[in-house]
Amino acid sequence: MDSYAVIGNPIEHSRSPEIHAAFARQTGEPIEYGRILGNPDDFAGDVRAFLARDGQGLNVTVPFKEQAWRLADELSPRAHGAGAVNTLIRLDGNRLRGDNTDGVGLVRDLTVNQGFRLAGKRVLILGAGGAVRGVARPLLEASPRRLIIANRTAAKAYSLAAGLANYGQVAGCGLAELAGMQFDLIINGTAAGLQGRLPEIPDDLLAKGGWCYDMLYAREATAFQRWGRAHRAARSLDGLGMLVEQAAESFRLWRGVLPETAEVIAMLRQQ
Ligand SMILES: NC(=O)c1ccc[n+]([C@@H]2O[C@H](COP(=O)([O-])OP(=O)(O)OC[C@H]3O[C@@H](n4cnc5c(N)ncnc54)[C@H](OP(=O)(O)O)[C@@H]3O)[C@@H](O)[C@H]2O)c1
Repeated sequence: MDSYAVIGNPIEHSRSPEIHAAFARQTGEPIEYGRILGNPDDFAGDVRAFLARDGQGLNVTVPFKEQAWRLADELSPRAHGAGAVNTLIRLDGNRLRGDNTDGVGLVRDLTVNQGFRLAGKRVLILGAGGAVRGVARPLLEASPRRLIIANRTAAKAYSLAAGLANYGQVAGCGLAELAGMQFDLIINGTAAGLQGRLPEIPDDLLAKGGWCYDMLYAREATAFQRWGRAHRAARSLDGLGMLVEQAAESFRLWRGVLPETAEVIAMLRQQ
């Protein structure tokens, strides 16, 4: 049986093992999937130890995505562009290929599962960490009218947007600079919600009929989902669908078969 795992710190909360167990049952692929509490001072050592146990692939989560990008022996074009890796695939020997499935996961959940049309829309994404780096380019490829990347540390948003300048319709800013702007979709890609907090954003950011999407997921509504509801969002969604979609794409990269996601999302919602 081939062995896979998710590595992060913290890791107990991760639902990836349940998701991949469901994919394995559905597809009949003979895999086992565990979780690894990564050592922030020795990520590379943890990966080497996993390979020595004959591990075949890893999902990488907070705070190791940039380290995984540096560690990979080769990168997919989308991981190269993102500067962050969430999927490591073992090649021959101990060589690793890095990929990033977060963007495909977010765009599939928003557009296929939820039916949001990104083309022509004004989109705001909050944050400029590993998750936002992974999703910015795939969002731009869906042709929004404007994509603003706003971050607490403004310099990170400026530099991320500068790296995407070839798309034209993207700009970076600090949170305070959002005053007076309005958006059809606001995506929260900050880690503020992990402490039950919200990024400091103006009250009138959401256009009439606009949607909110929190990349974070939890058993109860997240702080940002509650913000969306309080500000009359037409839909205020969490990131569980994105989590399952990015996992499905990782599973495809490892096993060559793309699992059905709807039944797995429904199963997780019921638990
Ligand atoms: N659903 C999914 O599949 C999925 C996939 C990936 C990530 N995520 C979620 O996305 C979130 C971000 O992950 P990440 O990997 O990008 O983390 P990260 O690399 O550590 O980046 C954290 C980001 O959050 C910002 N931030 C943290 N606390 C904040 C606060 N109190 N107010 C405003 N901004 C704050 C940081 O701003 P500064 O630069 O100013 O520090 C930075 O932009 C996490 O909640 C993670 O669980 C979900």
